[in-house]
Amino acid sequence: MNDNNESRPKLNKHDISLMKKFCAVFLTLFIGFIFIPVIINMINPAFGWNFYDFLIILVVSLLWTVPALTTNATMVIFGKNGTPIDGGRMWRGKRILGDGKTWQGMIGGVLFGFIIGMIIWLIKYFVINDVVVLLGLNNFELNPVTGDTITLYTSETEIAEFFRMNPLFAILTSFFMAFGAFFGDMVGSFIKRRLKYQRGAPLPIIDQLDFISFAMLFAYLIYPIKNALIYVIFMLIFTPLVHLLANVIAYILKLKKEPW
Ligand code: CTP
Ligand code: MG
Repeated sequence: MNDNNESRPKLNKHDISLMKKFCAVFLTLFIGFIFIPVIINMINPAFGWNFYDFLIILVVSLLWTVPALTTNATMVIFGKNGTPIDGGRMWRGKRILGDGKTWQGMIGGVLFGFIIGMIIWLIKYFVINDVVVLLGLNNFELNPVTGDTITLYTSETEIAEFFRMNPLFAILTSFFMAFGAFFGDMVGSFIKRRLKYQRGAPLPIIDQLDFISFAMLFAYLIYPIKNALIYVIFMLIFTPLVHLLANVIAYILKLKKEPW
């Protein structure tokens, strides 16, 4: 058997330590996102936050951005050894985008992200909503201390709206999340080449947030959802962690040359 490690360069120690620090920063932010509002609420209960809020933010954010996350993950699979979008062309002595941005990655990734977005919407629309009503969970008791109830899935609340989004929402959001993810990833590579980073060299923040930032921006501009800011903040903290984990897995599976 040939040794697969031969086909990929040894990882640079400096890059590894950089990525460890990066991971520590975002883990801290994530833990802060969970606990800081809880602490604020203990000091001043009028803040009105409880742990369910975190769960709702987690679920809604992920459901909203699932096409973008899917596109980002699948471009790696479809694009392996694909045809570069920039056709090998240079700009000011450097590649415009580099060999890491391919047509196959774009078409496969955007299509897959879109389809997954539509499937999730179908499940949300026809299955989850019905199950919730059937089980009577649409009058969910939210705060065990005060006994305040909010109806999570009825039409009055933003969550309900989110779960019952119309087909236009599903189509536009799925497509623009998927396309925005591809576009943002391309912008990231364009910036990296201008900064003279080689293909695959890590550029923390840009690498992890380029795709999700553009995806959320495009999707929001086309179809704004309520309280988008909190979902955006959450995803800007959560995505780098998911992205890093996915890339480590892709590296182990030998889909990627670098684990970031
Ligand atoms: N990929 C692709 N087409 C795209 C996006 C990604 O083919 N539009 C594939 C490429 O095989 C790429 C891999 O997914 O190598 C990982 O993507 P990414 O980390 O964004 O690219 P890098 O190779 O690291 O290049 P860059 O330095 O430009 O980010
Ligand atoms: Mg990369």
